[in-house]
Amino acid sequence: MQTLRTIQEFRSARAALVGKVALVPTMGALHSGHVGLIEHAQELADHVVVSIFVNPTQFGPNEDLDVYPRDEEGDLAKCEAAGCALVFMPPASEIYVNGRTQPTYVDMTQLTDGLCGASRSGHFRGVTTVVTKLFNIVQPDVAVFGQKDYQQFAVLRQMALDLNMPVDVVSMPTVREADGLAMSSRNRNLQPQERGKALSLSRGLIAAWNAWKAGERDPAILQQLVRKTMSDAGVGVDYVTAVDPVSLQRLVESDTLPETALIAVAGFFGNVRLIDNLRLDEPLPDSMRDLT
Ligand code: PAJ
Repeated sequence: MQTLRTIQEFRSARAALVGKVALVPTMGALHSGHVGLIEHAQELADHVVVSIFVNPTQFGPNEDLDVYPRDEEGDLAKCEAAGCALVFMPPASEIYVNGRTQPTYVDMTQLTDGLCGASRSGHFRGVTTVVTKLFNIVQPDVAVFGQKDYQQFAVLRQMALDLNMPVDVVSMPTVREADGLAMSSRNRNLQPQERGKALSLSRGLIAAWNAWKAGERDPAILQQLVRKTMSDAGVGVDYVTAVDPVSLQRLVESDTLPETALIAVAGFFGNVRLIDNLRLDEPLPDSMRDLT
């Protein structure tokens, strides 16, 4: 495995790879969710590239850029063990002119309007811009993303389509801790008490899933079940929203009952913000089956 820190070095190592290349973009502090993406990427291509870059443009001014967990040594060991060919780990100055910004951005409408796009202004502009840059630098045939960030995956798939990027954008299910908490690099920043409260995200989603299975279709009632589970646990709710899984349009109570639905949630745990989501119309994923 080679670790490259400049675009120039990376490009020459990339040029030596023969066959299909898969990219797994990350911000590091890798956990089993990331490793699952890397393992799936191995099946899709001859070589796997992991990028590790805490992207400043996707953090708002009052967000956790400065305290975002970093673990270079642990990350490289995990990438090596998972059989990565190349790790691209640039300093911010290699990606942005002054390490923080640049005149050109990739901006998207519609899919970015709601959910995290509504509560984190400018976030998706940072994500689409950095992933475009990574696609241009790495030139992957396929890129693998997690469904834990469901909206991000939908946005990036649409971006590749709209901008005719020759990259197949694929996704993998959410990997969870044994108690149901979706794995996230930010879990490292949870205080023990907040770690306990964080279970209300997956518990709330399961409550909504059970209600849907029992025939409940009113989005307001489904959302309220999740909201109550979170607020009973003392969690600050950012949003709880039932959406159409394809358009990400908010479901509203209407004459036509929805046949498909996804509930996406975000909550605050001290100064850590966590997200999770669940398809209500699909069987409960294996990682949640024992929790009902
Ligand atoms: P990061 O949060 O490090 O996540 C990198 C990838 O891992 C994303 O595709 C994310 O959805 C996936 N992932 C995170 N937790 C997961 C889990 N529990 N199960 C499965 N997959 C999981 O997402 C980003 O970084 C950034 O926004 C990035 C795309 C790298 C752009 O900067």
